[in-house]
Amino acid sequence: MAVSPPADLTGQVVIVTGAGSGIGRATAHAFADAGAQVLGVGRRKDALEETAADRPRIAAHPADLSDPDTPQGVIDAAIERWGHLDTLVNNAGATRMMPLDRTTAEGIAALFDLNVTAPSLLAAAALPHLRKRRGTIVNVSSTYGHRPLAGAAHYGASKAALEQLTRAWALELAPDGIRVNAVAPGPTESEALAAAGLPEGVVDRIKRDEADRVPLGRRGEPHEIADWILRLADPATTWLTGQILTIDGGLELT
Ligand SMILES: NC(=O)c1ccc[n+]([C@@H]2O[C@H](COP(=O)([O-])OP(=O)(O)OC[C@H]3O[C@@H](n4cnc5c(N)ncnc54)[C@H](OP(=O)(O)O)[C@@H]3O)[C@@H](O)[C@H]2O)c1
Repeated sequence: MAVSPPADLTGQVVIVTGAGSGIGRATAHAFADAGAQVLGVGRRKDALEETAADRPRIAAHPADLSDPDTPQGVIDAAIERWGHLDTLVNNAGATRMMPLDRTTAEGIAALFDLNVTAPSLLAAAALPHLRKRRGTIVNVSSTYGHRPLAGAAHYGASKAALEQLTRAWALELAPDGIRVNAVAPGPTESEALAAAGLPEGVVDRIKRDEADRVPLGRRGEPHEIADWILRLADPATTWLTGQILTIDGGLELT
């Protein structure tokens, strides 16, 4: 068999959540550059429009995924615009440091609403369309979805839930020819730490500490995650499902 050529996703329709920054923006760019039509979802319209600048194949769809009424509207928007759906990338996520002695019901709900409920409702709403195209879902977990991080137990638990959803959906949807996989990034350049509400000095210290702990000696770049999201979604990746691919410069080995 010949080695697969670079992905040509012309005619494919992809939804990328959290497309206004970081890994989601790089993922939207990667799919658009491979020829796909991309619906980029996030709360900030201006950030999505920046992602879509110079890439007419990306359409901005501002929406708050913490609202359980949003996911159906996101799927409907892609179908109304392009008529079908091939790939759902559940990338939007919240990071929150929440030590046990500062754990609140509101804090737990905020993490799980975005990291677990939203991907679930998006996948459910996408299902009839993915069935028609033997499409695929890629979830974005974290290296801390399967290794402990002191002070961020509920963030890790929400990502562990997403990893288990990935495996269960892979099994459940295999008869429909729908593949479900996940990436689990290690520390990657993005707005995540600032979005978690940490002061700039603390963010800088965390970034330095993380880079020191990664065997390859640095934090990842968003495109290094996006490349693998694209490969997992590529229809040429025919026989891979239910897998969690850790991309973390070797952090998991330590
Ligand atoms: N960077 C890392 O080190 C790292 C490591 C492991 C896993 N991850 C995971 O990677 C994914 C992407 O994060 P990132 O690192 O690229 O961070 P990021 O730059 O903060 O991206 C998160 C994106 O999610 C969107 N978002 C947040 N809340 C939302 C909501 N309620 N509704 C819709 N969209 C929402 C944000 O856009 P708006 O604010 O405009 O809504 C933002 O574009 C997350 O699932 C994160 O947990 C990141």
